[in-house]
Amino acid sequence: MKAFVPTADPAEPVVLADVAEPVPRPDEALVKVEAFSVNRGETFRLERPTPGDRPGKDIAGLVVQPAADGSGPTGITRVVGHPMAGGWAEYVAVPTGALAELPDSVSVLHGAALPLAGLTALRLLRAAGPVLGRRVLLTGASGGVGHFVTELATAAGAEVTAVTRNAERGARLAALGAAEIVHDVTDARGPYDIVLESTGGRALSDALARLAGRGTLIWFGQAGRVPATLDFFDFFNGPESAVIRHFHYLDADTRLGDDLATLVRLTAEGRLHPEIGRVADWAGTATALTDLRDRRIRGKAVLTLS
Ligand SMILES: NC(=O)c1ccc[n+]([C@@H]2O[C@H](COP(=O)([O-])OP(=O)(O)OC[C@H]3O[C@@H](n4cnc5c(N)ncnc54)[C@H](OP(=O)(O)O)[C@@H]3O)[C@@H](O)[C@H]2O)c1
Repeated sequence: MKAFVPTADPAEPVVLADVAEPVPRPDEALVKVEAFSVNRGETFRLERPTPGDRPGKDIAGLVVQPAADGSGPTGITRVVGHPMAGGWAEYVAVPTGALAELPDSVSVLHGAALPLAGLTALRLLRAAGPVLGRRVLLTGASGGVGHFVTELATAAGAEVTAVTRNAERGARLAALGAAEIVHDVTDARGPYDIVLESTGGRALSDALARLAGRGTLIWFGQAGRVPATLDFFDFFNGPESAVIRHFHYLDADTRLGDDLATLVRLTAEGRLHPEIGRVADWAGTATALTDLRDRRIRGKAVLTLS
């Protein structure tokens, strides 16, 4: 079968190659992939591929071979899945615990856009605790995760200030509920009860300065790849006794499949609207990856298999 494999060439980070078809473990279903999406974290990993790497964590398609142990879908079923690798391919084996059924009302494009970014947003907000009536500052808001966080946090009663590079990058966020969109963290008027930070460098210290005393900053990424510098004494100017919490979306006490099912349900009910800035045939995967890396895609990029 055909699948994308890494090249270690920044200009064309993946190429289509002939690879062996996956052999599912007993707790895995074999899925014929109809669409997949790509994520910033995956672009980082492609910079230093290791032999045998087969990228791809977000897929939607058809179960063509149910799991041998009887778990998960038992027949030909439309699904969304979050395998740990191998999803940018014609077929992928997915643990049934990382699958959710897709109803007819949710398109395969929306399904493929959901997993990594949607799971991160959902679990990030769980980690943040109750947000009803809380002021939330969100950096990197124009990305895949940012659109989901904005809509989910607003629906839960938060007042969200979203940071995007320019107005075009923030175009959808007001419609999804953002109370305010600013184009630099220093333009955000604090104090905020919660800061969700994923860009790093100066943005982290600037965002921390806008946190209320005893507030929480959740640090979930470093899109700019520049480490942050913090000064102990700055905390006395506002965020005294603040908590800085590291976050990894896989460190959770719920099953991936259950949280995926929640994202699918919210989408089916019209309460979650995956923001897709690029849809292309999977021949355009390398271009989608470089455009995502270079901040030319707003929201998610979804690739389709014909
Ligand atoms: N901790 C976890 O478990 C976890 C899980 C998933 C994702 N993440 C991280 O969360 C962040 C968002 O992920 P995503 O998939 O939503 O990424 P994305 O779609 O690429 O969005 C990232 C956004 O960050 C902004 N940004 C600000 N400074 C940047 C810079 N110097 N270089 C690149 N982008 C910059 C960009 O918005 P503007 O161009 O509008 O500024 C971009 O839209 C990433 O850092 C990712 O690694 C963490």
